[in-house]
Amino acid sequence: MSTLLELCEKRHSVRKFSEKRITAEDLDYIMQCVRLAPSAVNYQPWKFLRVKDSEREKIRQCYTNPWFAGAQDYLIACCDHKISWHRRQDGKDHGDIDMGIAVEHFCLAAAERGVATCWVCAFDAVLCTKLFDLPKNLEPVAFLPLGYPAVDFVERERTRKVIEDLWIKR
Ligand SMILES: Cc1cc2nc3c(=O)[nH]c(=O)nc-3n(C[C@H](O)[C@H](O)[C@H](O)COP(=O)(O)O)c2cc1C
Repeated sequence: MSTLLELCEKRHSVRKFSEKRITAEDLDYIMQCVRLAPSAVNYQPWKFLRVKDSEREKIRQCYTNPWFAGAQDYLIACCDHKISWHRRQDGKDHGDIDMGIAVEHFCLAAAERGVATCWVCAFDAVLCTKLFDLPKNLEPVAFLPLGYPAVDFVERERTRKVIEDLWIKR
């Protein structure tokens, strides 16, 4: 792995996990990359909740897609809206943007280490807040299932716009 482009090509959402639990070394490496993410005014509004083994069923209740239960480890990426930057002119909360950057640092670092994960946002956030007793200022933004790819995991074919279609034509 030598270039960012190669890492971006390597990163895929993984939805099929082996039995192996994520190692402390891999998780520490990933969190070092998260720590270095940029954020508006450098406010760093992110907080990550590590789901305890005894709480697995709680997080699986919040996102019931069957593949999700195949992971053994989970993080809940939360935004602290008391900390995130709100633009003076119109009050726009930049927490979601900061979270997007931090979580993608997470996913790219995971890909580099061969760790399997997948962004999950289609969960029941109200239920999550209740089951994990999150304070009002902490919004659960993304679930991150964690592990290593199953031996028979097959990457989905990549479908992306061509570069030409990224430009606003005028
Ligand atoms: C903000 C965001 C939310 C997502 N939420 C979900 C989700 O709830 N469930 C899921 O299976 N995948 C989810 N994904 C993964 C996308 O489906 C996936 O990134 C996309 O299809 C491209 O595939 P790739 O990640 O393998 O390149 C999400 C991705 C992003 C960036």
